[in-house]
Amino acid sequence: MKKLLPVIAIAALLVSCGEKKEDKKDGFEMNRTKTEKKAETAEGVPVDLDNDGVGPFKNVTFDEAINQEMAAAGEAKFNACMACHAAEQRMIGPALKGIYERRSPAWVMNMIINPNEMLKKDPIAKALLKEYNNAIMTPSGLNEEETRAMAEYLRTL
Ligand code: HEC
Repeated sequence: MKKLLPVIAIAALLVSCGEKKEDKKDGFEMNRTKTEKKAETAEGVPVDLDNDGVGPFKNVTFDEAINQEMAAAGEAKFNACMACHAAEQRMIGPALKGIYERRSPAWVMNMIINPNEMLKKDPIAKALLKEYNNAIMTPSGLNEEETRAMAEYLRTL
């Protein structure tokens, strides 16, 4: 995995350079209101809060209050995601703010821990793959506990 990282980073850069022009244009228009931004990330991709996706997580519910300790542990690992994701802006992958308004917690966690299978089998992930020009989300290497922490961190975006 260590050796792969530079390759992924370079690939990420190449893709992001290719996409920059469009992104900027969208960014300016889309930054005005939240609803417009949401529409952008959901474009052509189903919103489904009942789908848990494919992987080890099923029926996950969050406590009402954010678990700050868990969120901090997730944040500490978020660097690995920032090559492709930002909170508010579409990059190589979708903006992650408000993710739980369109996906279930288990779906998000399965996407983080099991993207290869998700991209092959899950209808939402397949639609995302198309929407994001076949950019493949790489496996995070996080274990189940770390994935749960990441899911908690995403609540804070
Ligand atoms: C190499 C780029 C890359 C990396 C690194 C990456 N992702 Fe992704 N991610 C994507 C892409 C691209 C998609 C859209 C599906 C596709 O095309 O693979 C995606 C989709 C997602 C989704 C679904 C978003 C939605 O709108 O439904 C979540 C959640 C997500 N990623 C979280 C993460 C987290 C958390 C990390 C870090 C642990 C991470 N990703 C690392 C590229 C990446």
